[in-house]
Amino acid sequence: APAVKVALLGCGVVGSQVARLLHEQADDLTARVGARVELVGVAVRRLGLTRDVELPEDLFTTDAHALVTREDVDVVVELIGGIEPARSLILAALEHGASVVSANKALLAEDGSTLFEAAERAHRDLYYEAAVAGAIPILRPLRESLAGDQVTRVLGIVNGTTNFVLDRMDSSGAGFDEALQEAQDLGYAEADPTADVEGFDAAAKAAILASLAFHTRVTAADVHREGIAEVTASDVASAAEMGCVVKLLAICAVQDGPDGPSVSARVHPAMIPRSHPLASVREAYNAVFVESEAAGQLMFYGPGAGGSPTASAVMGDLVTVARNRLSDVRGAGESSYADLPVLPMGST
Ligand code: HSE
Repeated sequence: APAVKVALLGCGVVGSQVARLLHEQADDLTARVGARVELVGVAVRRLGLTRDVELPEDLFTTDAHALVTREDVDVVVELIGGIEPARSLILAALEHGASVVSANKALLAEDGSTLFEAAERAHRDLYYEAAVAGAIPILRPLRESLAGDQVTRVLGIVNGTTNFVLDRMDSSGAGFDEALQEAQDLGYAEADPTADVEGFDAAAKAAILASLAFHTRVTAADVHREGIAEVTASDVASAAEMGCVVKLLAICAVQDGPDGPSVSARVHPAMIPRSHPLASVREAYNAVFVESEAAGQLMFYGPGAGGSPTASAVMGDLVTVARNRLSDVRGAGESSYADLPVLPMGST
């Protein structure tokens, strides 16, 4: 079979690990996909920088638009984050016939519908497992494995940076700034850690989780959000005296009311008893509980941030999308996104 040609947008913490895996796992990927998966270009902001992966210099370009619209590109992997230019590049990629893998939670939570509609029009895949909870497979379980059940609640720790900070404050009495710096050095934090600390990152993930869990559309603006900036060392200490830990939780639920079902989504710090499974989620790990009518309770746990774990989720999407292209099918999206009922947002 001909090679599946991949264009990478961004070569930072996650992008460099994707490039590394594409190179190191080349033979396994060929066997699993049924064709060679070939990296044909990497769009970056600046050329000539030292990166965490060694790649031939001629793969790099600063012209992302030219790269995503190249005739021969089969899959575009968007790892630059933020709204623009990521959105325009994804739309251009889909219009030019490429399938897309993205880890861009901010964009998906703010304007997912524009992307889903474009993917549907182009009849191309758009996969984004890496956008929520790093390496943990949670979006495809919600979208596919649980699609025949009724999910009623999704609850979890979905930001690694804030969990790392709260955990350090709890276990070693570290100060907020010191713990945050450590999380940044380990590559867990967003480029601007305000998104982590103020709960914007968790709110974006809550919106994506609620949309997939309840088969509706929830945007980041619909999520009630409170970050950890106000959590003090003494809050953490008093929680400890009560046998509790402070965690930043994302809570998404659907409830029945006199006017039919409504959805709620919120992110805020909460005190959790030390005996609760979520209390044992340490460092930058994430955990997501799912409650559904038929399955009951499910728990997903794993590394929620960092280059290599997030790259694992990107690679999984890439394999799926590449296989789909080779067999000329589209993967499991919502069958017709435009026809999905939009549930009202209830009180939180
Ligand atoms: N900044 C994010 C976090 C990265 O700390 O969880 C993963 O989305």
